[in-house]
Amino acid sequence: MLIVLDQVDSTNTFLKDRFDEFPDGAVVAALEQTAGRGRLNRPWFQQKNNDIALSVAFKNLECGFHAGAIVGLAALEVAREATAKKDLFFKWPNDIYAGEKKLAGILSEGILRQGKLAGVVCGIGINVNSDENALFSVGQPATSFFALCGRKFEIKNLLERLEKSIGRHYIKYERERAQILREWRQQNRLVGQVVELRFPDGKRLEARFSGIDDDGNLIASHGGETTVFRCGDIKILPSLKDR
Ligand code: BTN
Repeated sequence: MLIVLDQVDSTNTFLKDRFDEFPDGAVVAALEQTAGRGRLNRPWFQQKNNDIALSVAFKNLECGFHAGAIVGLAALEVAREATAKKDLFFKWPNDIYAGEKKLAGILSEGILRQGKLAGVVCGIGINVNSDENALFSVGQPATSFFALCGRKFEIKNLLERLEKSIGRHYIKYERERAQILREWRQQNRLVGQVVELRFPDGKRLEARFSGIDDDGNLIASHGGETTVFRCGDIKILPSLKDR
C-alpha cells in the first residue's frame, strides 16, 4: 500500500499517530513536509515536490534496527539503478553516502504498547532533484540524484519503485533474515576505517570501525580498547597513512 500526501508535518509523525489504522508494510509518502525530522532531534529539509520523504509501518520485526536495514537496502537499490552509480554505500547506521556527501537519511522510531515494542515507523528522506542551492542550505556536505547524474526524476515514479523494493526486501527478510542482515553489513563500507565517533553528549573519539554487532551497534577499537557505539554520529576520517 502506497499513499502519497501533498503536504504533512512529518510522514513519521503521521504514521506513528495512526499506526493501528495501517496494515503491516504500509508506506506513506509526502511531496512536502512542514516539520520533517532527522536523527538526534535535527530538522530534515526536503525540497517541495523534488525529494523523497516516506515512512513505512513495520509490525513484524524481530528487532527494531532491522527496519533501517530493510528500507536502507531498498533505497540503495533504487538509488543505484536510477543514478547508475555503483559506489553508493551506507555510513553507519543507515545514511546513504556518495563519497563524502550524504544522499539519504533514515529515522526509525519504535511504537511501544504496554512497554513492549509493537512495531517500528521507519522514515527515509532522499535528495532527488535538489540543486546545489538547496543542498548547500542543508548545512552539511550533501548530494542528490540530480547532482550525481545531471538529470531530474519524476518523484511519483521513484516512490512507486521504492515502495515495491521495500516490499521485496521485507518479504526476503521474513524468509532469509540472516541474508538481509549480511547484505546490510556488507554495504556498510566503512568497516576497517578510522572514524570519529561523536557521542550525543558532545564527546568525540577517534577509533577504528571494527564491525557491527547483532543489535546493529557499531563496534570500534582504539588503543587496545573496544567501544560499543549505540547512538550518535560518525565522521569519516582520512586513513592514518593519508594524513
Ligand atoms: C537523518 O539523516 O537524520 C534522518 C532523516 C530522516 C528523514 C525522513 S523524511 C521522511 C520521514 N519523516 C520525517 O520527519 N523524517 C523521516
